[in-house]
Amino acid sequence: MSSIIEVRNITKKYADEKVALADLSVDISSGEIIALLGPNGAGKTTLISIICGLTTLTAGNVFVDGLDIEADYREARSLIGLVPQELVLEPFETVMGTVTLSRGLFGRSPNPELIKSILENLSLWDKRASPIRELSGGMKRRVLIAKALSHEPKILFLDEPTAGVDVDLRRDMWRLIKNLKASGVTVVLTTHYIEEAEEIADRIAVIDKGRILLVEDKSVLMERLGKKQLSIDLDKPLSGLPTTLMDLGITLENDGKKLIYNYNVDLSDSKISEILLAIRSEQVQINDVHTEQSSLEDIFIELVTEGQA
Ligand SMILES: Nc1ncnc2c1ncn2[C@@H]1O[C@H](COP(=O)(O)OP(=O)(O)OP(=O)(O)O)[C@@H](O)[C@H]1O
Ligand SMILES: [Mg+2]
Repeated sequence: MSSIIEVRNITKKYADEKVALADLSVDISSGEIIALLGPNGAGKTTLISIICGLTTLTAGNVFVDGLDIEADYREARSLIGLVPQELVLEPFETVMGTVTLSRGLFGRSPNPELIKSILENLSLWDKRASPIRELSGGMKRRVLIAKALSHEPKILFLDEPTAGVDVDLRRDMWRLIKNLKASGVTVVLTTHYIEEAEEIADRIAVIDKGRILLVEDKSVLMERLGKKQLSIDLDKPLSGLPTTLMDLGITLENDGKKLIYNYNVDLSDSKISEILLAIRSEQVQINDVHTEQSSLEDIFIELVTEGQA
């Protein structure tokens, strides 16, 4: 798929000379949903702010649909909708007024039908005449999304869209994001909820200390996630691995009282039955059996802690 956003070797130093992004490059494909994961201060919001032209670059280039974000700022920006991390809204303006005004600011002609459908999709239609200050936090977040969609952007950035949002609204947002993708919108979101990335993203990028540690298709990551570990607690310790168990890829741990077997969930050739039969033939009693599966969270933590080492 072709790239709609090309980030080329960007570096960002804030005024205090602190490096927020260090020679970072990434390509975002047209029509994908990409999730940016990373600890606080990793540089996610800085990256988004640069692509959206809200923060200046120290070095490097960003192209949005082939347009240079610095040289062709207005045109590039008009392709982008941004839902910022902070709830920045005019408290006395109404929901309808806020969203309508935002479309106007992008020079788009009025389209009440479109605004109505956006508000309906976000369950905000009933609140259209309410001033922002009367809305709950979750509703304000939805207004920010309505605002970002008001000028029909090709690319939508969502900076922690579901922070502090309840389970129902989170699911609504996931549905909305999937629908936007179905209509051809490219979605870039940041999140601290790994299950959110797991649920909706096509690709996952992990950022830490201003660098990309990994960009990978979720399906490829899921293969890594498919690893499982079987532990078998034995009644009596074994002095060594019995010959019947030797070629099955098993290790003996916990002073001979635990057998560990690592296998891949996707592969149908797991040797679990063979292992259990072999243990039985050794006349060893099994006290307990359990399995563990690595999660995206494990991979994330492993990457980020490796980076700190
Ligand atoms: N306006 C600013 N002036 C100076 N430093 C800044 C500014 N904005 C961000 N930073 C610094 O840049 C680094 C990256 O911050 P950024 O907000 O991009 O992180 P983030 O990944 O979005 O974090 P979070 O998950 O907390 O939102 C941090 O060290 C932060 O302190
Ligand atoms: Mg941020």
